[in-house]
Amino acid sequence: MQELDWNAFYEQCGRCTECRLAQNRTNIVIGAGVPDTEVMFIGEGPGEQEDLKGEPFVGRGGQLLDKMLAAVGLSRKHNIYIANIVKCRPPNNRDPLPDEQESCIKWLKMQVSLIKPKIIVCLGRVAACRIIDEGYKVTKQHGEFIEKGGVLMMGTFHPAALLRNPGLKPAAFADLIGLRDKIEKVCEKTKLVY
Ligand code: URA
Repeated sequence: MQELDWNAFYEQCGRCTECRLAQNRTNIVIGAGVPDTEVMFIGEGPGEQEDLKGEPFVGRGGQLLDKMLAAVGLSRKHNIYIANIVKCRPPNNRDPLPDEQESCIKWLKMQVSLIKPKIIVCLGRVAACRIIDEGYKVTKQHGEFIEKGGVLMMGTFHPAALLRNPGLKPAAFADLIGLRDKIEKVCEKTKLVY
């Protein structure tokens, strides 16, 4: 993989037209947060609001995510970075197709190699299956940390699943408490902000 700095990365990723999802985008949604972080969150792909604003997780699910993160001292303003498996909105919010994921994953790999996170949190099945293990089962394995390539990885529920099924919120919040404990153990630079 070619060595990139953030400016070159944003410039090149910003004009990507390598798959069909580029054709209907309003904005490409590359990522948001603190680039010099130890903790990275990965979702599935932009929805309608994200496509309109060019920022990940800014719709109802994103607002819920931000609230839950704030309760454990985390935010995109202070100490985390958020990106998605695909950078352009899939039509009608369908799952990104395997070939779309395949052509977009190189951008996420570049983000990971620029950030060098200690911890990656996958939000939902699509991200966890792509990043952690193709057989990943969120309902069974959420909250577990798995070490892969020197990075600690955890899957948890997608915020959209929490909106559909609020009964899952306590389990999702317990995952975030576990994440905070792990950050306190392994991340030297991360300051939790309340
Ligand atoms: N869902 C995602 O997976 N990512 C976003 O950025 C927004 C909604």
